[in-house]
Amino acid sequence: MRHSAMFLGALFVVAISLGLPALAFHDDGVAHCNGCHTMHNSPDNPADSADGNSFLLKQSTSTDMCLTCHATRLGNSWGAALDAPGTLVGGGNFIFLTEDNLNDGHAGSLEENWIPGHQAGHSIISDDRTLAPDPVNEFGPGGSYPAENLTCTSCHDPHGQGAHFRLLYGDDFPTSKSNGYFFDYTAAAPDAVESGFGQETNANHTAFRAGMSEWCGACHGDYHNTDYPNTLKHPSGEVLGAIIAANYNKYEGSGDYTGLKGDAYLAMVPFEDPAAATDSTEGATGTTSKVMCLSCHRAHASSGPNSGRWDFNLTIWDDEGVESGSYIIPNPYDATAGGHQRSLCNKCHAKDPVL
Ligand code: HEC
Ligand code: HEC
Ligand code: HEC
Ligand code: HEC
Ligand code: HEC
Ligand code: HEC
Repeated sequence: MRHSAMFLGALFVVAISLGLPALAFHDDGVAHCNGCHTMHNSPDNPADSADGNSFLLKQSTSTDMCLTCHATRLGNSWGAALDAPGTLVGGGNFIFLTEDNLNDGHAGSLEENWIPGHQAGHSIISDDRTLAPDPVNEFGPGGSYPAENLTCTSCHDPHGQGAHFRLLYGDDFPTSKSNGYFFDYTAAAPDAVESGFGQETNANHTAFRAGMSEWCGACHGDYHNTDYPNTLKHPSGEVLGAIIAANYNKYEGSGDYTGLKGDAYLAMVPFEDPAAATDSTEGATGTTSKVMCLSCHRAHASSGPNSGRWDFNLTIWDDEGVESGSYIIPNPYDATAGGHQRSLCNKCHAKDPVL
């Protein structure tokens, strides 16, 4: 106790003297030390357990700590109905971890074919929400991060010390301590610009500039690949090339290849580009725009398997949510292709037939 109190004091002094961004990020005054910590588990600032919690936290896990404020706003939808989750933010909504079935593929409604909610994305652990570690993936696929320690603070630094995009960890302030598990990030925090907290749209979205695939790779290794085509896996962190950039820019939905570069950007299939801006609707270039992990995945969770930005098992959009009964991911090309819209892999590959 004495040691911890000294430690807290020391960090506080440093925080004040350097004007550290921890407070600037969470700067409403809400996230002062006492917002998350209690020194004495005293009645005016109690912990949720009579014996207190590790790290002198007010809640038993960091996920529970974060969700005291982030449960219903800023995108996690706790308390909302699963088929009406409210605002869909760029990071994706964790509530979909509680779905019973996500399978919109053929015969997906048969119980033996169910794809359970833990496959909606990162299975963060929480006591209050009874969220258990992922029952299938013991470690982050391709890496060594243990699923049993996965919480909000596996990825986000509660103290925001590096002043990074979305308080994410990076190799300059590398050590995350989620659930007491110490893990050092070997990649820099991604270079990206925040879009505020509203609904993600084509004209209001995270601007990804560089480094996202490498950052995910800190826990997933070369999961899909950075050595394309030698590994015979899909590239990430690689430039699109002229043909794919041209597909991206002309693609306006299945069978409609009449788009223009100036308004080609689709927030559901984002790419990285050093010139990206949060309000830009500009399409891709072959030489500077890159495919990356979040071109296909949400960082948190989605109502498609494997945290897909769209359902990878989908044939046509009319099938979305039908077999599974899960939330219907909105069709971005409803106006042009309607219910016959096919998988959004086509935004880059344009393999869908003219209607
Ligand atoms: C006491 C309430 C409160 C707690 C507890 C809290 N947050 Fe926040 N958080 C906020 C508010 C309010 C904002 C909106 C931005 C601001 O005002 O700083 C925010 C913003 C954020 C952002 C976006 C920052 C940005 O600049 O885009 C992230 C990421 C975040 N919080 C993560 C967390 C994590 C992880 C935890 C748990 C370790 C946590 N928060 C705990 C209130 C809280
Ligand atoms: C948004 C919530 C939040 C706020 C605000 C916060 N902390 Fe923490 N703190 C945590 C969490 C969660 C942990 C547990 C380790 C982890 O999950 O990263 C922690 C762990 C710690 C630790 C022990 C581990 C380490 O990193 O050294 C110290 C010391 C600490 N906090 C000090 C502070 C001080 C001082 C302040 C105020 C300047 C503060 N914290 C504000 C959430 C917060
Ligand atoms: C702190 C380590 C860590 C980071 C960083 C991380 N992951 Fe993970 N990821 C894990 C762990 C652990 C699992 C296994 C547990 C699970 O499946 O929920 C996992 C599982 C996944 C899954 C499978 C989910 C399922 O159950 O089907 C996907 C997809 C994924 N991660 C994508 C990403 C992407 C994309 C990024 C970058 C935005 C990323 N991860 C960053 C640790 C991490
Ligand atoms: C596997 C890593 C990972 C975990 C675990 C994780 N986050 Fe995030 N979070 C991210 C990334 C990456 C982004 C940026 C995504 C984007 O802009 O597309 C993000 C974005 C956010 C944002 C901004 C929301 C928005 O508008 O997009 C908030 C708030 C946030 N996270 C809070 C949390 C909270 C609270 C938890 C735990 C309940 C959590 N995160 C767990 C990686 C993670
Ligand atoms: C071109 C789209 C695309 C990109 C880019 C992409 N993924 Fe995937 N990912 C998928 C699809 C589709 C699946 C479903 C399984 C499959 O087809 O291999 C998947 C599955 C996964 C899984 C789940 C594996 C499991 O067994 O649960 C993880 C983890 C994952 N991806 C991580 C990443 C990471 C990390 C990156 C960036 C380095 C990334 N993905 C980039 C499309 C993509
Ligand atoms: C953001 C753009 C983007 C998206 C979205 C995307 N890809 Fe790709 N894909 C690429 C790039 C770039 C290459 C590398 C092409 C090259 O080097 O010629 C590639 C290569 C491929 C290849 C290998 C082609 C060959 O000639 O060897 C296949 C197959 C493929 N992608 C399938 C998919 C599938 C399936 C999806 C959806 C799950 C998908 N892609 C989504 C950009 C994308």
